[in-house]
Amino acid sequence: MKRWVLIGLLAAAVPGFAADDASRVAASRAAAKEFMETLKGELQAAMKTGGPTNAIEVCHTKAPAIAREISRAKGFDIGRTSLKTRNPDNAPDAWERKVLEDFEARKRAGADPATLEHHETVTANGKATFRYMKAIPTAELCLNCHGRKLDPKVSATLKRLYPEDQATGFNVGDLRGAFTVAQPL
Ligand code: HEC
Repeated sequence: MKRWVLIGLLAAAVPGFAADDASRVAASRAAAKEFMETLKGELQAAMKTGGPTNAIEVCHTKAPAIAREISRAKGFDIGRTSLKTRNPDNAPDAWERKVLEDFEARKRAGADPATLEHHETVTANGKATFRYMKAIPTAELCLNCHGRKLDPKVSATLKRLYPEDQATGFNVGDLRGAFTVAQPL
């Protein structure tokens, strides 16, 4: 292997080493995509074997576990957030709330929800963090657990696991929330 290839691989593997915003955006997009694809695979498999009631358990235990695993592997934080959360642990902080509200405004102005993203370097307490968010539109599959009319068994399971659930009543094409990535600089 040529030396510069090795240096390139090291730069990709060491968080914060890659110098410019473009590569940070690319890394954030890749992390969000991996999170989405892994979760969707688990969700679809669980729906096939046991329907939405079974799949709730997957979202309940696997979603946070997948986020932790990708965060650990990449050396930065990834998660999901929303203006209407199911799990209060996913509630947005002030910066995320502002971005989510901006996504809603851009969608109202005609933007395609699948294209909405935002990145910014934020400094707090003297520490700079590169932050990235990408909107998550509501698809047909999501309505089983986030829609207007839920199966009574699904409702009962959600109520038991998430007594503070706000994440129902969505239609296809609504913004369900966003992926959120933070890379310490
Ligand atoms: C089988 C039920 C089920 C389906 C189907 C489902 N979800 Fe969820 N969703 C959940 C559960 C349960 C949680 C809470 C996960 C947790 O505890 O972190 C959740 C959480 C979320 C969150 C994190 C923010 C929050 O509300 O806590 C987003 C974003 C989200 N879902 C989007 C989607 C999208 C988009 C789809 C369709 C592609 C989808 N979900 C399909 C059950 C489901």
